[in-house]
Amino acid sequence: MERTFAIIKPNALADGNAGKIISRIYEEGFTIVGLKKLYLSKIEAEGFYHVHRERPFFDELTDFMASGPCIVMVLQADNAITRWRELMGATDPAEAAEGTLRREFGKSVGVNATHGSDAPETAAFEIGYFFSGLELL
Ligand code: TYD
Repeated sequence: MERTFAIIKPNALADGNAGKIISRIYEEGFTIVGLKKLYLSKIEAEGFYHVHRERPFFDELTDFMASGPCIVMVLQADNAITRWRELMGATDPAEAAEGTLRREFGKSVGVNATHGSDAPETAAFEIGYFFSGLELL
């Protein structure tokens, strides 16, 4: 079993789509081992996305992530990192396959409804950024 870190981003919560996304997570066979709703500060969003700090979209991305509440989760399944990224679809919702979460709930490359770790080391950092061991059940 592998764990990955996921976010339901502020646009998906504001649009009332968090429940549908959580239903899909269960339907696709993931176990949610940690979950909480947070309203990130700009500084917390910058810390989370620090690997992108030199990218031109960093300021816009971190403003968006601090624009409203989000839901952070730890998902567990066989091959969870790859499977969650497949369920999310491509970064740009316009390029994401039919049936993926970003295609259904994303608005633009920046406002794309969900986040998922891209590798085991990233998942370890991201899980540790938001959850203590006692919160993962
Ligand atoms: P990235 O790690 O490339 O994508 P993914 O989330 O699919 O792993 O980018 C991180 C986030 O940065 C992405 O979810 C949305 C935002 N972003 C932009 O706002 N503009 C862009 O051109 C790119 C590539 C990403």
